[in-house]
Amino acid sequence: MESADLREYVENLFGEEDPLLRTMREEAESQNIPTIQVPFGLARTLEILVRVSGARNALEIGTLFGYSGTILARALGERGELITLEASAKHAQVARENFARAGVAERVELREGSALDLLPELADRQFDFIFIDADKVSYPDYLQWAIKLSHPGTVIVADNLWRGGHVAMPDNPDNDALARFNRDLAADDRLVSIILPRLDPSDAFSISIVR
Ligand code: SAH
Ligand code: DHB
Ligand code: MG
Repeated sequence: MESADLREYVENLFGEEDPLLRTMREEAESQNIPTIQVPFGLARTLEILVRVSGARNALEIGTLFGYSGTILARALGERGELITLEASAKHAQVARENFARAGVAERVELREGSALDLLPELADRQFDFIFIDADKVSYPDYLQWAIKLSHPGTVIVADNLWRGGHVAMPDNPDNDALARFNRDLAADDRLVSIILPRLDPSDAFSISIVR
């Protein structure tokens, strides 16, 4: 037999994408918004981590059209709250519509602007769960902010830490920053961290828990 593809196998096994998430994705595509939302395996991992940690509030850096934000808001539950940061006005507008459609708008606060400008406004807050998924050059700064906005037990997840291997041999400022992020993550004694392949192993994500 030809070698099988794990991502395809698992996605087929688990069946159809949630109909609303699918609509969001298809509409984003037709509006020329990049469909770089979390794939199924990472989406499900985020949901499990939010549930298992009992998180009640979360911070997301990089909203896009609200795909992972909807998943996070749902997983946080009826009394959960999500703050999500997005630099693109176009993405923010579509995301707001999507949060309303998903029935989570009253529990999601979308702040529009560049995350490094918005994060200082949150300096006195602590989040139970933090998802880093915006511009890659700022990842080292996002990690320091995530730690600052954490408490013992906070779970921090970051996407796009491998980029088909380019992070191991950085060839541009994005990949150089991701390599720095990975070094910082691995060396930080305040965290217990791991980097894991996505089901599509051309990319990877980290999971950390704050000691
Ligand atoms: N988490 C989303 C995907 C995010 S894609 C999901 O899985 O559904 C990355 C997003 O980060 C894009 O929407 C991009 O506009 C946004 N972004 C890029 N630079 C940013 C910045 N400096 N501050 C905040 N958001 C930024
Ligand atoms: C890109 C960004 C992402 O967050 C992602 O998951 C995939 C691609 C990008 O900027 O190309
Ligand atoms: Mg990503």
